[in-house]
Amino acid sequence: MSVGIDDIQIATGHHVLDMSLLAEARGIEPAKLSIGLGQLAMSVLAPDEDIVTMAAAAAAPIVERVDASRIRSVLVATESGVDQSKAAGVFVHRLLDLPSTTRVVELKQACYGGIAGVQLAADQVARRPDDLALVIATDVARYDLASAGEPTQGAGAVAMLVSANPRLVELDAVSGLHTFDVDDFWRPNDRTTALVDGHLSTSAYLDSLEGAWRDLVARGGRSLADVAHLLYHQPFTKMARKAHARLASLVDGEIGALDEASLDVGAQLGNAYSASLPGALAGLLESGDRSGDGVGMFSYGSGSVGEWMTGVVRADAGVHDAGVRRAIDGRVPLDVATYEQLHAEHSASSEDRTLPRVTTGPFRMAGVEGGARRYERV
Ligand code: HMG
Repeated sequence: MSVGIDDIQIATGHHVLDMSLLAEARGIEPAKLSIGLGQLAMSVLAPDEDIVTMAAAAAAPIVERVDASRIRSVLVATESGVDQSKAAGVFVHRLLDLPSTTRVVELKQACYGGIAGVQLAADQVARRPDDLALVIATDVARYDLASAGEPTQGAGAVAMLVSANPRLVELDAVSGLHTFDVDDFWRPNDRTTALVDGHLSTSAYLDSLEGAWRDLVARGGRSLADVAHLLYHQPFTKMARKAHARLASLVDGEIGALDEASLDVGAQLGNAYSASLPGALAGLLESGDRSGDGVGMFSYGSGSVGEWMTGVVRADAGVHDAGVRRAIDGRVPLDVATYEQLHAEHSASSEDRTLPRVTTGPFRMAGVEGGARRYERV
């Protein structure tokens, strides 16, 4: 019996900010962002969107396609949580009318949480092959205005259904892991924007990639020289290129291709934190028929945990519509002044309020009532 990803769908925010507008407003050479970082645009949320609305939007088409009574776990990975106690997945569970006979929990380890969710789900399904597990990675990346990190903001959610005998990607049981304590990027509880030591973070990412690769090799995992496609956590596109170059320096002989279609997902959405690597996988599966191809995926979450995960696209997978093109093309452009206003208005406050209807997405946050968030189907 194989275990892996049976379905995958992406969603993002209502708005998009073109990177050339941001460069002009900040007095930065546009090529620094488009070539130096490799970023073309970033998703920005409407006031009535958050990680819950994006998560539900990504998961809704998947839930419609399966027997939902088989979904026994909903694992939502996020580092942009909306509550310190209640799991965001419980809101998603209600919005999607999932059965009460479901386990719901939230996972966090920076951008690594999504892949942690996939691995936990895979272990669950290996024990109980009739179970389905819904893993949703959902995040909004926020740095201070005019900071070095600002052009690497973004937002997105990717929902993945993990099952036995999956229709899309069969995952290998062996993976490579690497954890070490480093203050490269973090967000203390009293902040809505991240703190980061940008240059330390890029070297920590590459050290983690190497450490996880050494573990993969030591455990007899699939050789990364034998996979056709390599996907990376992509805080910005140049980082994935640096990661590919580091891997090439480690592996004897040729390595697989750095997949350009998946790079474009990150270049357009910006950093979607835990959803970044799953978004790259969605881009790969949507952009062509990858049936039978090997895939290597590196996840990095600052702080830090890294993992190399490998697998094979099912021989009869064909091209999969993961909603990537619709998500990218469906966004409404912003000017910089409106983006700055939205950035300033972003609030984690529990003050009661009613939110204006802006998003055209299938779900929205209606407001806060008695200190509790209220969500609805649009
Ligand atoms: P910076 O210091 O403003 O940029 O911030 P820089 O001076 O390092 O320049 C960036 C690149 O642009 C350089 O290329 C320049 O040469 C080039 P490189 O040497 O790297 O190849 N450049 C130009 N290219 C063309 N034309 C020009 C031009 N000018 C310069 N005119 C930094 C960059 C990434 C540090 C900043 O954006 C930042 O702090 N970002 C946030 C942190 C981050 O994304 N870290 C990535 C690794 S950690 C990670 O992935 C985890 C994370 O996702 C969080 C999580 O796990 O939850 C962040």
